Amino acid sequence: MTGAAWPCIEPSAMNHSSPTPLVSRKVGPLKGRIHVPGDKSMSHRALMFGAIARGVTRISGLLEADDVINTAKAMAALGAEVEHQTGGDWHVVGVGIGGLKSPHQDLDFGNSGTGVRLAMGLMASTPLTARCVGDASLSKRPMGRVTNPLKQFGTVFEASEGNRLPLTLRGAKDAKPITYALPMASAQVKSAVLLAGINTRGITTVIEPIPTRDHTERMLKAFGAKLEVKAVGGARHIAIEGGHELNAQDIAIPGDPSSAAFPMVAALITPGSDIVIENIMLNPTRTGLIETLVEMGGDIKIENRRLAGGEEVGDLHVKASSLKGVRVSAERAPSMIDEYPILSVAASFAAGTTRMEGLEELRVKESDRLAAVESGLQVNGVLTQSGKDWLEVTGGGAPGGGRVTTHMDHRIAMSFLVMGLASRIYTRIDDGAFIATSFPGFADLMNGLGAKIGVEGP
Ligand code: S3P
Repeated sequence: MTGAAWPCIEPSAMNHSSPTPLVSRKVGPLKGRIHVPGDKSMSHRALMFGAIARGVTRISGLLEADDVINTAKAMAALGAEVEHQTGGDWHVVGVGIGGLKSPHQDLDFGNSGTGVRLAMGLMASTPLTARCVGDASLSKRPMGRVTNPLKQFGTVFEASEGNRLPLTLRGAKDAKPITYALPMASAQVKSAVLLAGINTRGITTVIEPIPTRDHTERMLKAFGAKLEVKAVGGARHIAIEGGHELNAQDIAIPGDPSSAAFPMVAALITPGSDIVIENIMLNPTRTGLIETLVEMGGDIKIENRRLAGGEEVGDLHVKASSLKGVRVSAERAPSMIDEYPILSVAASFAAGTTRMEGLEELRVKESDRLAAVESGLQVNGVLTQSGKDWLEVTGGGAPGGGRVTTHMDHRIAMSFLVMGLASRIYTRIDDGAFIATSFPGFADLMNGLGAKIGVEGP
């Protein structure tokens, strides 16, 4: 069916409020230089830290996607002034530590676990009351991992059954500092505890046995927080002394490596491709996918490496490559936790089998990603095997032709649209609307490189 005419309307007409089935099909080589939108983790943090700092935080390169816009709205509802400037920058006038106020309306975090979990930490040690809500996907996700440590500060929660949203938070009036050993590798939980520590007199310590993304630590230090990181017997001990004001900053946010992952894999698996993805953040806690793809034989060169805004940044030069299957060990999982769906697509085009281990956290993302990836691969004719926390993908090329159920998950949607560019028959997804939560303009950007992603007609 490759090359056959199929109904298509412009993907930029996509609308997040109604399901948008999309289709993607085999094309010639991808070529060109692109920018992807700003890093999501840094964007949430820049808005939140700006909201409790003294002065005006100026942010350039903010990711203007639904998840981050919901965080911006929440910060405004809590009393910060958040303004989108005409030049594209965002300004946040902070209220100082302890200055957040009870919002008059529910705080709606939409699809975003990072938004709601970090905001709970930010509010936990200030005497305010806020009701947090989210969409159907976020309302299924576990919040106990954050409410349990925050209760130790003195914060009170009334959560829905199973510690889920909707949830009402009553911040502690006189919060007590805690020492908390993370029971799972989660930057969101680490960050929530550290943020609660900012307005808590004394020293709050998080013990992190397995390192996760460290944007909170880096950015809080830049805002002037009294934060120290020590290595103790193989673990990271992160201590923050509360009760000190933060100072507003100018923050330039580089491109999101988790978004760059999609054009990167698309170029690797589409014969003859040669693309450059400019200005990508290369923090070592985020580069697990690049390391894995290089081990698989991917031709990825990092050009123009530089430091920008306290983070390593570079341009990714990617050429189509013959990939081979590898074993990806559990230790690598935190540095590529959002990238397993797209790695699984790359694996289905590699020679041999790829085995991915340590995937238990994938079960509690925007969807159960292990199950969603496996079923998406299988409906497209790819052989897989899986267990509670592992997945094996047999490569050799994806036949395609399947319709993938995306479960309100942006990364499942984008991964299988990338698969369609190199599969023998086109691939379809049931709903591309959630792509707007992290990567607005994804389809147009990919089509600008030569891809053919469109809205499936009636
Ligand atoms: C994030 C942490 C990760 C990641 C998410 C963003 C963050 O979640 O999956 O997309 O910005 O702190 P976990 O902390 O649940 O691993």
